[in-house]
Amino acid sequence: MDRRTHAARGPWRPEEEPRSMDVEPPIHISSVYRYPPYEKPLRPRKGEVKYGRENNPTVMLLEDQFATLEGGDWGLAFNSGMSSLSTLLLFPGTQKRTILQRVVYGATRSLAERLAERTGSKVVLRGPPWEELLHEATGGDLVLVETLGNPTLRVPPLDELVDRCEQRGCRLVVDNTMASPVLLRPLDHGAGLVVESASKYIAGHNDVLAGLIAGRGEEDYQALWEGRRLLGTHLQPMDAFLVMRGLKTLFVRVREASRSALVVAEWLEAQEDVERVYYPGLETHPDHENALALFREGLFGAVVSFELRGGRRRAEAFLESLRLAIPTASFGGVETMVSYPYMASHRSLGEEEKRLLGITPGLLRLSVGLEDVRDIIYDLETALKASRRELRG
Ligand SMILES: Cc1ncc(COP(=O)(O)O)c(C=O)c1O
Repeated sequence: MDRRTHAARGPWRPEEEPRSMDVEPPIHISSVYRYPPYEKPLRPRKGEVKYGRENNPTVMLLEDQFATLEGGDWGLAFNSGMSSLSTLLLFPGTQKRTILQRVVYGATRSLAERLAERTGSKVVLRGPPWEELLHEATGGDLVLVETLGNPTLRVPPLDELVDRCEQRGCRLVVDNTMASPVLLRPLDHGAGLVVESASKYIAGHNDVLAGLIAGRGEEDYQALWEGRRLLGTHLQPMDAFLVMRGLKTLFVRVREASRSALVVAEWLEAQEDVERVYYPGLETHPDHENALALFREGLFGAVVSFELRGGRRRAEAFLESLRLAIPTASFGGVETMVSYPYMASHRSLGEEEKRLLGITPGLLRLSVGLEDVRDIIYDLETALKASRRELRG
């Protein structure tokens, strides 16, 4: 079965509920299940339900669907992207060091650093330049990269990283949130685990927080399942239903928004008031070659970052002038959204570090939505003009 069919339909079959023949999977809201201790093992086996912090039939359907979409043997669902990352960093948690790429989601970096302070392990930031990361990764490390790094959309050389980690015995974890399994499946390339904040493209409608992890092999599954049970990071069944509803249209949404994003990126590149555009589908992006090798559909995601001339005053005036795009801290929804990394996600970094990461006062991150691309461009054009007027004063 094609992956797109699997996203649209999932593992649910109406015949599985013979009394009602539900076309949509039921939401199992019970948090407790009949589980006589004299008949059953203390720990439920895979697929068995005992208590809602361990397993839930609705959530299990989502997990199976996600595992198939990512090409894994198993999937696990968490109550946010951050709770999947925190469970992953604490369990199995055998790493001596965590290596993060420099352009990484700010909360992921803070989480790794704070956990390391408590556990006595180390966090180092390496690459881009990617050679730095390739050179550094060694046995016992956990290497965490994003397939499209926040916010300058850097694309790591995934195949080279996989080879390096295989040779050296490090564990490679890939956060695939911005690409989604539509554009890239890291497990097919040999990554150890894939994580997604399902709050973004996977659910896609800005109405639920969720996280997902997929992988291969029983050992990681057991460690993460146990970690989720102890930390209490399991996803709620209502939320699992919303995520599954989003998955039905995942392919259509991501493909359409990515096509529009390329049009917007090319338009932005032609604007005098735009100093620089970061979009891996453009030849000018530093990781265009990596992106061509990895994003096989010829689609490069729906997020475009760009730097406005005129710094902070210009960026703020531009945000104020938008009428269609919504200033937010997020991405991956139906609506076009703009975030301002300098004052939001990366605000806590020092000026020098921001400069090194390309997070300048004029940088904006645009998450292209499903509106007509002509309306999106009209909105951007109008805001460019209005902010230019305001700057002239
Ligand atoms: C790349 C990436 N990973 C993880 C997360 C965390 O996900 P959540 O907000 O669902 O906790 C985010 C959130 O923006 C993200 O951008």
